[in-house]
Amino acid sequence: MKKILVPVVLTVLVVVAISCTKKDGSKGVITGGMEPLLQSALDAGMLPIPYELKVMEGNPSSPEKIELGKLLYFDPRLSKSQLLSCNTCHNVGFGGDDYQETSLGHGWAKGPRNSPTVFNSVYNTSQFWDGRAADLKEQAKGPIQASVEMAATPEYVVEVLKSIPEYVEEFKLAFPGEADPVTFDNVAATIALFEATLTTPNAPIDKYLRGDLAALNSEQKAGLAVYIDQGCVSCHTGVNLGGDGYFEFGVFESPDADVVAGDKGRFALTQAEGDEFAFKAPTLRNIEYTAPYFHTGKVWSLAEATQLMSSSQLGIELSEENIKQLLALMDAFTGEQPQIMYPTLPPSTDNTPKPVWK
Ligand code: HEC
Ligand code: HEC
Repeated sequence: MKKILVPVVLTVLVVVAISCTKKDGSKGVITGGMEPLLQSALDAGMLPIPYELKVMEGNPSSPEKIELGKLLYFDPRLSKSQLLSCNTCHNVGFGGDDYQETSLGHGWAKGPRNSPTVFNSVYNTSQFWDGRAADLKEQAKGPIQASVEMAATPEYVVEVLKSIPEYVEEFKLAFPGEADPVTFDNVAATIALFEATLTTPNAPIDKYLRGDLAALNSEQKAGLAVYIDQGCVSCHTGVNLGGDGYFEFGVFESPDADVVAGDKGRFALTQAEGDEFAFKAPTLRNIEYTAPYFHTGKVWSLAEATQLMSSSQLGIELSEENIKQLLALMDAFTGEQPQIMYPTLPPSTDNTPKPVWK
């Protein structure tokens, strides 16, 4: 009986394997009984958000460091005006960004780019639209010092924190064994560790990718098929459904000039030929929360952003039906939002520098 079954099973497998061969000739992995759509999603690199905290190289975590990082994330005294905190432009109650086309910083200066969400940013392979910071710790040092953002200096930040005894205590707890733990480097390290907790697991897409076939409805599944077959997935994949590669904005067709705003993206960093107008493909997680879209924030409608992606990145015109299905799918990219209790910040003292607005 077994002898007969084996060749039969093998023949069936071969037939299935042939029918699973995609247009580009690559074969899907065959696992017994798996919905082919789910298999294609996994083959294309889509992954659920892990439940455990991501470990960041060279920046070991602890509850004390996360708690301190949280205080610093919310503390506007790290800015020269003492009015802007990380949370001003990356609001944890509102998708982790600021709902502005481009961010407003010190002295109401308008920055050149849209604020990306901090949620799940620990899963990006680099930070910023052009990837100029390798990780969250390096990234956190940027906005504190940027003149159009918080406009402070490392020395200023250390002076503010050292003037507040509760902060000095918190740093000692977080970095036991360091003689002088109130440093700019430790500020960046703890903020990064707090940010690493800002993930949004258990979106319907995550449940589906873990094998819960009922987590997506039929319209969302149709959207997923479009997302994979038409090629959105080639740039927006991995855990973050984006965040791990740079692509020219306008592979097939350049978007309107105001959507690009002359920003050459990664080219300014690398001067490499292929990098002109290349940007990090942003995460599509919680995308319904993070309008307006693109590095200029010039597009407010997700339908319009999707339409623009299909013409600029794929060189196709998607049907209204397909756009609707993609929008339904992107609803399923919204996960459980972090539940953050707003911290009580320690009071200033007479020695704390006062706000400066110029
Ligand atoms: C004035 C608004 C503003 C403030 C304040 C601000 N940011 Fe940002 N943030 C931005 C903008 C705009 C960008 C994108 C800049 C770019 O890519 O060139 C950004 C990028 C980021 C990114 C990269 C995310 C990604 O997907 O690439 C992270 C992480 C981040 N900020 C964290 C922080 C932290 C931590 C603080 C506080 C220390 C902070 N930001 C303060 C506006 C702000
Ligand atoms: C060739 C790579 C590529 C393909 C294919 C692609 N994208 Fe993008 N996508 C990008 C890049 C790069 C950006 C950022 C462009 C910018 O703002 O400079 C982006 C931005 C977006 C944004 C805006 C996100 C934000 O936070 O501002 C959405 C939404 C989006 N893509 C959806 C899609 C959809 C849906 C598809 C399929 C129809 C798709 N993309 C296909 C690379 C791609």
